[in-house]
Amino acid sequence: MENMGGEYRTCCILHSHMLLLLFNLLLLQRLCCTTIDNITLATHLSQEQVLSSPSKIFALGFFQPTNSSDQYLGIWYENIAPRTVVWVANREKPVTDTFITLMIGSDGNLKLVDRNRDTLWSTNVTVSSNNSVAVLSNDGNLALKDSVSGDYLWQSFEHPSETFLLGSSIGFDAKTGERRVMTSWKSDTDPSPGNFVVGLVQQSSLQVFIWNGSVPYWRSGQWDKTKFIGIQQRDSSYSSIFELREDTDGSVYLSSSPHNQTDLEKMVISPEGHLMLAYWEDKRWKVEWKAPNSPCDVYGTCGPFGVCKASESTICSCLKGFLPKSDDEWSKGNWTGGCVIRTELLCEANTSDEATDRFWKMERMKLPDFSEYQNVDYPFDCEHICLNNCSCKGYATVDGIGCLIWTENLIDMQEFSFGGEAFFLRLASTEFAHGRLREKLIISLSTIFCVIVIILGIFIYGLHRKRSRKISKTSLSHCEKLSN
Ligand SMILES: *[C@@H]1O[C@H](CO)[C@@H](O)[C@H](O)[C@H]1NC(C)=O
Ligand SMILES: *[C@@H]1O[C@H](CO)[C@@H](O)[C@H](O)[C@H]1NC(C)=O
Ligand SMILES: *[C@@H]1O[C@H](CO)[C@@H](O)[C@H](O)[C@H]1NC(C)=O
Ligand SMILES: *[C@@H]1O[C@H](CO)[C@@H](O)[C@H](O)[C@H]1NC(C)=O
Ligand SMILES: *[C@@H]1O[C@H](CO)[C@@H](O)[C@H](O)[C@H]1NC(C)=O
Ligand SMILES: *[C@@H]1O[C@H](CO)[C@@H](O)[C@H](O)[C@H]1NC(C)=O
Ligand SMILES: *[C@@H]1O[C@H](CO)[C@@H](O)[C@H](O)[C@H]1NC(C)=O
Ligand SMILES: *[C@@H]1O[C@H](CO)[C@@H](O)[C@H](O)[C@H]1NC(C)=O
Ligand SMILES: *[C@@H]1O[C@H](CO)[C@@H](O)[C@H](O)[C@H]1NC(C)=O
Repeated sequence: MENMGGEYRTCCILHSHMLLLLFNLLLLQRLCCTTIDNITLATHLSQEQVLSSPSKIFALGFFQPTNSSDQYLGIWYENIAPRTVVWVANREKPVTDTFITLMIGSDGNLKLVDRNRDTLWSTNVTVSSNNSVAVLSNDGNLALKDSVSGDYLWQSFEHPSETFLLGSSIGFDAKTGERRVMTSWKSDTDPSPGNFVVGLVQQSSLQVFIWNGSVPYWRSGQWDKTKFIGIQQRDSSYSSIFELREDTDGSVYLSSSPHNQTDLEKMVISPEGHLMLAYWEDKRWKVEWKAPNSPCDVYGTCGPFGVCKASESTICSCLKGFLPKSDDEWSKGNWTGGCVIRTELLCEANTSDEATDRFWKMERMKLPDFSEYQNVDYPFDCEHICLNNCSCKGYATVDGIGCLIWTENLIDMQEFSFGGEAFFLRLASTEFAHGRLREKLIISLSTIFCVIVIILGIFIYGLHRKRSRKISKTSLSHCEKLSN
């Protein structure tokens, strides 16, 4: 009986706890979930309100990261728990003040102000009137519009934080030199800008980079107009979810059209420097793709003229015809010093004899960084161009791009187990002679072996015939004897 009473009591306590929790939740909901549809001169967004997208997919409001008293203005998924923030306005200016307001300022800009009306964050664009309105769209874009013309004055998709939503973009403005990048959080609970930055680089081909500070950390490989060729793909017909917009003034933006609003999908750069494509399924974020995914994916792991192969136990090796720059470092597994050429290229040696350099074909490669595009009519012209320029270290002809040559140190090469591109490495023809000599030796040895076998065969055959003739002779004499 006593026992049962005890159980009853704990039950009661549990119940009251749950009621309290429920009450708290309701209270919180009341507090947090007064939703508004837009922000105008007449309507502010206060601490206890959220701005909702029309279909209630995204919400804009104030939040505090776990274990932090800092207040941030951010956008998150309205129906996903735990809260997944996709954009933060005042990353560089966290506030502990609990009296902050988002409003349209007298200059028409969207502004975050504290109790003294000091500006903490602003869209900071030139607006002709104060007649603007801020709305949140179903794809997660916070937009400041002119309420008369409906023109976009500013949008969060053009100022990404650490998340790239379908519809947002990264790139650069050629006129202003302004770069549009993604920047990681400092940690999972600190939205201030971290070490890792994702952006676009236009050399002669376009590539996506992750930088750690200012040091390249990962590289997508060249854009072939449908995909980035340094990202390993099992299906060569695959084209990425990205599309590229190149303006006539040289501005370039990589974006992704929101192809299916009901699929919750996002690309995010984590505080640890991983670029991840994730989608929401079974109440959690599932990572569909991640980079870097192996030590070989990390930029320049094997140094100049080194090649990385994830399937090998020692991932780095020197290119054919190259030797480790420092045997000591190399053997200790510090490969960043890379390799140096073993035999001087013939074009550099000023030899006047017939010998020229030749090309060694490497298959399934992630092509090196610093490619230079050459406009040629036929693929074989690419080899010709490279051969005739002594500083050319190799070439490749890529579908969708054309002829690429390399005149700098060959860096960040990887040999894939499938996919990839063919790369042609320039080497002195004597490097090939080594190969030929061995081939010749093998051929001559096997020829000698064959000849010996044949001679032996003939000899044995001859011996056999001689013996059988002898036998038949003796049997004949036997018969003769018998008949006699
Ligand atoms: C803002 O939202 C209110 C309420 O939904 C609506 O009546 C009003 O037309 C909206 N204003 C603008 C400029 O969109
Ligand atoms: C928050 O702080 C508590 C206590 O200091 C700690 O146990 C917990 O791991 C922290 N949570 C996060 C997400 O940092
Ligand atoms: C908005 O602009 C109008 C016309 O320029 C001006 O009369 C009005 O005072 C402004 N309102 C605010 C709140 O600044
Ligand atoms: C607005 O931009 C100007 C320059 O374009 C800059 O000097 C100023 O600090 C910015 N203001 C805010 C609040 O970001
Ligand atoms: C990023 O750079 C910092 C400072 O240079 C370094 O300490 C850190 O290990 C690097 N992170 C990665 C993942 O390489
Ligand atoms: C969008 O996704 C939903 C669920 O994943 C699916 O049922 C629907 O057919 C998709 N629509 C399109 C146009 O792909
Ligand atoms: C690896 O080698 C490079 C030079 O090749 C050197 O600068 C670096 O300090 C070495 N790293 C380690 C961990 O020994
Ligand atoms: C090759 O010839 C050029 C000029 O023709 C000269 O500058 C260079 O030093 C020579 N290189 C060698 C290795 O002899
Ligand atoms: C070789 O290529 C480099 C880089 O493209 C170029 O600067 C140089 O002029 C070329 N040299 C010749 C002889 O074509």
